[in-house]
Order: sequence, then C-alpha cells, then structure tokens
Amino acid sequence: MMNDKIKELMDLRKQARLGGGEKRIEAQHKKGKLTARERIDLLLDEGSFEEFDMFVSHRCIDFGLESQAYLSDGVVTGYGTIDGRLVYVFSQDFTVFGGSLSEMYAQKICKVMDKALKVGAPVIGINDSGGARIQEGVKSLGGYAEIFQRNIVASGVIPQISAIFGPCAGGAVYSPALTDFTVMSKDTSYMFVTGPKVVKTVTGETVTDEELGGAFVHGTKSGVTHFVADDEHEGILLIRKLLSYLPQNNLEDPPVIPCDDPINRLEDHLNSIIPESTNKPYDVKDVIHAVVDQHEFFEVQRNFAPNIVTGYARFNGQPVGIVANQPNYLAGVLDINSSRKAARFVRFCDAFNIPIVTFVDVPGFLPGTTQEYGGIILHGAKLLFAYGEATVPKVTIILRKAYGGAYDVMGSKHLRGDINYAWPSAEIAVMGPKGAIEILHSKELKDITDAQERVKFLSEKEEEYRNKFASPYVAAKYGYIDDVIEPRNTRFRVIRALQSLATKKDSLPPKKHANIPL
Ligand code: HXC
Repeated sequence: MMNDKIKELMDLRKQARLGGGEKRIEAQHKKGKLTARERIDLLLDEGSFEEFDMFVSHRCIDFGLESQAYLSDGVVTGYGTIDGRLVYVFSQDFTVFGGSLSEMYAQKICKVMDKALKVGAPVIGINDSGGARIQEGVKSLGGYAEIFQRNIVASGVIPQISAIFGPCAGGAVYSPALTDFTVMSKDTSYMFVTGPKVVKTVTGETVTDEELGGAFVHGTKSGVTHFVADDEHEGILLIRKLLSYLPQNNLEDPPVIPCDDPINRLEDHLNSIIPESTNKPYDVKDVIHAVVDQHEFFEVQRNFAPNIVTGYARFNGQPVGIVANQPNYLAGVLDINSSRKAARFVRFCDAFNIPIVTFVDVPGFLPGTTQEYGGIILHGAKLLFAYGEATVPKVTIILRKAYGGAYDVMGSKHLRGDINYAWPSAEIAVMGPKGAIEILHSKELKDITDAQERVKFLSEKEEEYRNKFASPYVAAKYGYIDDVIEPRNTRFRVIRALQSLATKKDSLPPKKHANIPL
C-alpha cells in the first residue's frame, strides 16, 4: 500500500520535472537555452536544492485552460546553497505556457521571497518568460505587483540578483530593474517595455529584439544590466562569484577570507605609472589590479560608462567596493551615465556594509547642452548624495586630477571620507590650469596682441598656478588629505586604513527616508 503511494509520489515528481514536456525541452535546448531546473542545478552547490511547491498548478478555468495544467505551473522555486551559503531561488520555465506568469506562479515566487527576507538570505531570480499569462488577465498583473512590492521591501535588506536568460518584456522588466544586479546572456535574452511590433506601430521605427533590448544594448547604452555573459553557464558563474563578495543580509558583514597575498607587497611600477604629461591617459585598472589581493578585480558594468570603473575586490581578504575614474576613457570625466552608475554602486555597498575605496583622477564634470538638458545637475547630485550618505568605511586616494566639484564628489574628506590619501602627482584645484589662467588673467590677455608674447605669458602663469595648486600639499596643509603616500606603498596603506576603520560607526539622524535627487 505504502509502496503504491511512494510510487505515485515518484511519478508525480517525474511529471513535474518534465515541465511542458520533452518536445518543448528539446525546443528550449535548440535555442541554446537550458531548462529552468538545469539552470538551478548549475547555480547551486551539487545536491543542495530543496524544492517547494512542485505540485502547484494554476486555477484558471478560462480559454480552455481547465484542461491544460502542468505541475509546478511554469516556475521552479526553493532554496539551496552557493559555496555553502543559503540562497533562495526561482527559475521561470519557458516550456510551460512560455514561462508566463499566473496567479499561482506569482504566489510561488512570493513564498520564496518572503522566506528569504525572514531568514536574511539572498534571492536569485532566473527570468525566461512571455510575461503575463494572457488567459489569467488581471490576476497575473496583480501577481507581478505582489512580486514588485516584495522586491521593494527586501531592497537594502537582502541582496537580490536577476538573471535574464530569455524574453523579459512589458511590466515584467520591472522586477529585475528593482533588484540589485542583473545578468544577461548574449544572443538569447532581451528586455524591453514594449516589443518591436508596438514600437513600429507607435513610432514607426523598425528594430529587432536584439537592437531594442539585447544584452549588448543594456550592457553598453542603457546600463540596465550589470553583467553580460557569453552564455548561461558564464552568467551563472558570474552570479556565484558576485555573491562571494556580499554578505547574506544588511545586518551581516561581507565574508572575509584568508589572504596569502603579502599585505606589504610593494608595486614599484606604480611610482612611474602616471605619465609625465598631465593630459596623457593611463589605465586606472592597472592601479587597481596592482594593489588588490591576488590582482583580482570583479568589475561591475564594465562596458557602460567606462569613464568610471566600479567593482569588487579584496584587501587582506576583506571585500571592498572600488570606484575609480578612468583616464583612459573621456579623460575620466563625470557625466550623466558615470554618475548614475557609481551612485547606485556606492549605495549598494553602503546598504550591505561593504567599505568603499575610491581612486580619483577626474578633470571635472562634462560640459555642454547634452549633459545640461539631460539633467547632469541631478545625476551628479546622486553621486554626491550617495557618498555623503554612506556610513561604511571610506578610503580615498587621489592619484592625479581632482578638479572642481568632482573633487568634492569623489569621496572627499568633506563628505565624511575617513582616510584620504594623495599620491605626489595629485593636482587638487578649482579647475585645470588652462581654464583658470584664462579667467584670472582675462584683462591682461586682452592687451597682449603679440602671439609669441601671449604664449610666453600663458606658460608662465600656468607654471605659477601649477606650482601653487597642482599639488597635494595645499590640500594636505588644511588636513583635507591625511597623508601624501608613495604610490608603490598604496596596497599596504589602504589595508592599514581599512583595518583601522573595521569598527567604524557612523549614522544619519532618524528619518523616514532621504530624498535623493532621483
Ligand atoms: C500565455 C503564452 C504567453 C503568454 C507565450 N505563451 N507567451 N501563454 N501567456 N503571455 C505560450 C505560447 O502560446 C506557446 O504555447 C508557448 O508559450 C511558447 O510560445 P511561442 O510563441 O511558441 O515561443 P516563441 O516563438 O519562442 O516566442 C516567445 C515570445 C512570444 C516572444 C515570448 O510567445 C510572445 O510574444 N508571447 C507574448 C508576449 C506578451 O505579449 N506578453 C504579454 C506582455 S505584457 P504552446 O502551447 O504552443 O507551447 C505583460 C504585462 C506584465 O507581460 C505586466 C506586469 C505589471
């Protein structure tokens, strides 16, 4: 008798694991995509997955759906571990009604989100869906909003990560957008609010799925995705790696691991990495790689707004978030996109107790109508706000230029920077010498008609200005810089700084929430 019941259980499990059936699984594989369960198996530690709600099916009796039901109802949910640490997951199953979201499907997702929030563990959602299940109408729309509400409540409490491994369209895009990190797979995923057909009708534009919302577009132009993976395997590895830098929730510290990279490793080449000419670029990632543990830097949003670099690394085993201006791209200028990118990154680090290390080489904010009309004032203010609001340890190193408002913004002492160092090559001033001289000596310049004399005058005045301001010592004189450090010692000095700040406590006055300039 019992044996029969166990057989029945096994049969039902087998049926559930088949999702929409072998044919549809085959079609999924043909598209170069894995199934929902295969993705979970890859993501989690082997044998760690515990599934919930395998026997759930929909309750819809319209459009003939009463005779069409699949166990699990198009989404696989549960929990497991990644590197031994608990995570909750949901994985949309495209083989069942195109992974479309029903009332019961939404309930399954909400269940794992609620559990994750209660126990303080990350949630990873794998998206591959035709959107709202058309037959369920408003129940499906309501289901989405139930998920959005949980995304919002969980924001800043547990890390939330989205993988997009197939279609993600319409309002469905907003759940990934509300999460902390999004990973897209090349060629097999897309995200847009309205698809190419609607675009054609409304605007007359002809555009493909890929051109409108493929991984390349969101990884380079919109900044919607944080990681672009060559395929799903790589996407899943990226998620596992990302989690290794993050705490389980906002009440925990990020995981410190043993470090066998000497903390006092000197990097002599850093003493000559800054070019002689102040306008020549160099790759700030060379500086980052040189100073972090094992030279390992996990970059976030690599191809979006590359004039600022963001990502994770470790110093003596301690995870940190790194923000660095990139002189190699647009001279490292701050513009709308780089400000948005870095602001969101800084806020995530602050919410999850990850210290922020900032490397500064910034000529200022990008001038021009495009930027002003686009609201650079508000976007730049976001970054300023994020730094000023952050209470995690903040260590800043000015490598070269720190001009104008950008000096203030980039983790300056005045925005509660804890330890602020400068290399001897630092130039800290209201603006670069050329612009400053034009303004300060505009009257004298008007009177100089001889071209040669003008060049001589300008170079003398520039030299004078450079000697006065284009150094770290004026800022150091006022204590805005705690020390001027030899570049090759940077690793050691940052590690010491972080150690000294390990018990830092800082806070903001009680309030409902701030009003960041969105
Ligand atoms: C019910 C759906 C479905 C949906 C797909 N299917 N989308 N069933 N509701 N939204 C079913 C199909 O009928 C088909 O069933 C199976 O899933 C696979 O779909 P195909 O079209 O054969 O697959 P493919 O050619 O790969 O195309 C995938 C697709 C396309 C691009 C996603 O199916 C599509 O455009 N679907 C509709 C998308 C859509 O407009 N959704 C509503 C968006 S608005 P069988 O039985 O043949 O396997 C929205 C609002 C959310 O989502 C609001 C939140 C606030």
